[in-house]
Order: sequence, then structure tokens, then C-alpha cells
Amino acid sequence: MTSTPATPENATPDQNAAAGGAVNELWGGRFSRGPSEIMERINVSIGFDKKLWAQDIAGSKAHAAMLAAQGIITQDDADAILTGLDQVAEEIRDGRFVFKTEHEDIHMNVESRLKELIGEPAGRLHTARSRNDQVATDFKLWVRGALQRLDGDMKALQAALIEQAERHVDTIMPGFTHLQTAQPVTFGHHLLAYVEMLGRDRARARDAIARLNECPLGSAALAGTPYPIDRAATAAALGFDRPTANSLDAVSDRDFALDYLATASICAMHLSRLAEEIVLWCTTQFRFIRLSDAFTSGSSIMPQKKNPDAAELVRAKCGRVIGALSGLLVVMKGLPLAYSKDMQEDKEPVFEADDTLALCLAATTGMIQDMTPDPAAMRRAVEAGFPTATDLADWLVRRLGLPFREAHHVTGRIVRLAEERACGLSDVPLDVMRGVDARITEEVYAVLSLEASVASRTSFGGTAPERVRAAVAAARERFL
Ligand code: ARG
Repeated sequence: MTSTPATPENATPDQNAAAGGAVNELWGGRFSRGPSEIMERINVSIGFDKKLWAQDIAGSKAHAAMLAAQGIITQDDADAILTGLDQVAEEIRDGRFVFKTEHEDIHMNVESRLKELIGEPAGRLHTARSRNDQVATDFKLWVRGALQRLDGDMKALQAALIEQAERHVDTIMPGFTHLQTAQPVTFGHHLLAYVEMLGRDRARARDAIARLNECPLGSAALAGTPYPIDRAATAAALGFDRPTANSLDAVSDRDFALDYLATASICAMHLSRLAEEIVLWCTTQFRFIRLSDAFTSGSSIMPQKKNPDAAELVRAKCGRVIGALSGLLVVMKGLPLAYSKDMQEDKEPVFEADDTLALCLAATTGMIQDMTPDPAAMRRAVEAGFPTATDLADWLVRRLGLPFREAHHVTGRIVRLAEERACGLSDVPLDVMRGVDARITEEVYAVLSLEASVASRTSFGGTAPERVRAAVAAARERFL
């Protein structure tokens, strides 16, 4: 009988314990053997937190310099540490660094390599800090960078939208409520609505940066440290506004990651709404826009098809971003103070959401630049829906002094007559209109055209082309 070799999948707990590797050199004193293979597998985070390498090295450099300035370690040791950390950074940048799972995470991978490179002084770097304040600092730095990048990507999409909007300040399309034709609007006005949404998303990113910008470093494991550290100095060196005020909060706070994910989720939701409109606009029923071959794909069976796959995927990928937000909220919601290992599960959702959103923003910007609007198709669509009925009612109020409710009623009857005659409102003969209300005059036709309708909506924030032209200029000032 041959025995199956023990793999983590089929091993008994005993076999797993036996399969454990060497004692961890960073805390070996208390331990007589290494972790079981299954323990190592559930515990390691280097596979994903190596993304934090630059932030980890920056944090360690600030910490080492501060320790020397405060006389906690010698300047010689600090110099050796700083040179060694630069060397580690270079190895990682050049792809020469070997990330080891036995060193669990990015913090211990960097420190172990530092020890190999410079020997004894490496052991002094961890004075007056813990991986708990270290990881909170690293991750905050990463999220801050991600929010700044996100802001730039959102700005690029705003620029693309504003450019298309400018070309279509007087292109008339149906404006919808309940997805039923409501009133004519301009395509430029419609696109600028998304510029406003992205403006709020960018403001949320800026708020999140301002809120997260307090440095956890020096909070140590949870309680602070007896060493005479200078937290203001490390905070300033890392571009934070100030040190965090409470050590327990500092090591157990992941609000900044949640702020990132909330901001990202709302932005992804906006992109998903725009993507949904792009999908609709591309249908043979709407035909409001065309996407080029660059942003569509064909069907393997139906030769006539050009599918807006990119838009559909932007619409769908929003789910991942929202999923990341709810996932991390659930991880955090039951944790007692201070740090728990649960919090290691904070990074993957943020990294995944960040990749997803960056891709969605790039694809959306690409589609907005790529699309060719079809003003004739928009006009056909808008003409079919009696979109100037409100204008007729307003005319009855303004010219004939009818109460709005009565004007609404009169207009409703004229719409019904137009429907019966299968014509637009402006094609209903005057005597037919007069049959409904004898006071109506020839003058009414002036307000029934689409152009007159949009041109009349000059209130601030309205769809009149002159307003939209001013809104385009204002959006450039405000956002670009
Ligand atoms: N890899 C850990 C994390 O991401 C670092 C902090 C570990 N701290 C600890 N006490 N085990 O959360």
C-alpha cells in the first residue's frame, strides 16, 4: 500500500503541523517550530500586500531618520538602515527581489532582506513601532495615492464629456422621465449632467484625502511607546498634516479604506448609469449614437450585430466595486479595539476596486471620445412623443391667463386629437385646436417647435443652448 504524500489539501491537522517550516526569525524566541503549511497559507499576505512596498520603505525611512534625530538609535545605524532600504527598493523596482511566503507580508519581507544586506543595525529599525501602526501608515499612503490617481482619471472623463457637450450644445434629443419622452433637451445638456456627477465624485475623493491625512506611525502596537519619539516629524516627512490623536483608533481604523470604496462605489454607479444610456443609445430602436469598431464587438452568428460590450461591462463591473465596499464593511463591523488580523482582509477589496474603477473610467472616456451622435435620429425620436405639450400648456397660462390645471386639461385634449390624427402638435390645424378652446390663436405655433421649446428654458441650469454654451465654459473653469 502506497501512502499519498501530504499536501495542504488532503493532510490531517497533524501532518500539517509536521509539514511546518523554520521558526520565524522575527519572533522566534517564543516559538519552537514554524507554522503548519495550512497556517502559512491562510496567514500570508505577501501575494497582495507587496503592492505596498514603496510606501513601506518610505515609512521605514522616515521612522529610522526620526529615531536617529531623537537619539534613540545612532546616526551610523540610521545611515546603514537608510542605505540598505534604498538598496531593497532598487531590487524590488528592478524585479530582482525575491518575495518569500515564509516572511508573511511586505513589512517582514523588507526587514528580512534589510538584515541580509546590513546585518545587526536592521534589528534596530523596529524600535518604537509595530506592524500595526506600520501597516496602517503604509495603506493610508497607498490609498492617498490611489485617490489622487482616481481624481486625475475622473478629470479626464470630464474633459471628454465637456468636449462632446460643446459640439452638441444645440443638438435636440428627447429628455426622459420614466424613460418616456418628456421634454426636448439638448444632448450637450445631457452630457454635462455627468460632468456634475463626476465633479461630486472628485470632491468626495478630495474630502477623503483630507480626512485620512493623519499619520498612525508611532502609535506602535496599540498603546503608544515609552521611547521619546517625534511623531510630528514622521508625519511631516510622509506628507501627513499631523499625527493621529489616539493610538487605539490609529491602528484599528480602516475608515480611510471605506471612504475610498464608498467614493469609488458612487463613481462606479455613475459610470454604470452612463453605460446603460450608451447601451440604449446604440440600439437600433434609439440610434442616438454610434460607437466605432474600437469599442464594439460582433456576433459569431448574427452578422448585422455590433454590440456595445465595453459599455455593458462598465455597467456590470460596478457590482465588483460595490461588493468590495460591502465586503470590507462586513469585515470591520464586529471588531473590538484594537488591531485584529481580520484587518489584513482590507487590502484585496481596495486593490481590486481600484483596478476595476481605473479600467471602467478609461473605457468610458474612450467611448465618449469615440461615439458619433446622430442628431437626425434624436430628432425623429423626440418628434414622436409630443414633447412640447408642456410648452402649449405654459402658453395657455401666459397668453390666455388660464389656471395651470385647466391649461393642462386643454392640452391633454389637444394631444389626444394629435394622436388620433397621427401627427405632431405643431401639425394640428388651428380650427381643431379652437374646437377645444376657442381663445387659441395662430401665435401658439411659435412655442410648439422643438427649437423654441429648448430655447425658452433659459433658467439657470436649464437646457437652452445659450445656457448650455455658458455651462460648458463654466465647467471648463470649474473642473479642468
Ligand atoms: N500583514 C498584516 C496586515 O496586513 C500586518 C499587521 C500584522 N500585525 C500583527 N499584529 N499580526 O494587517
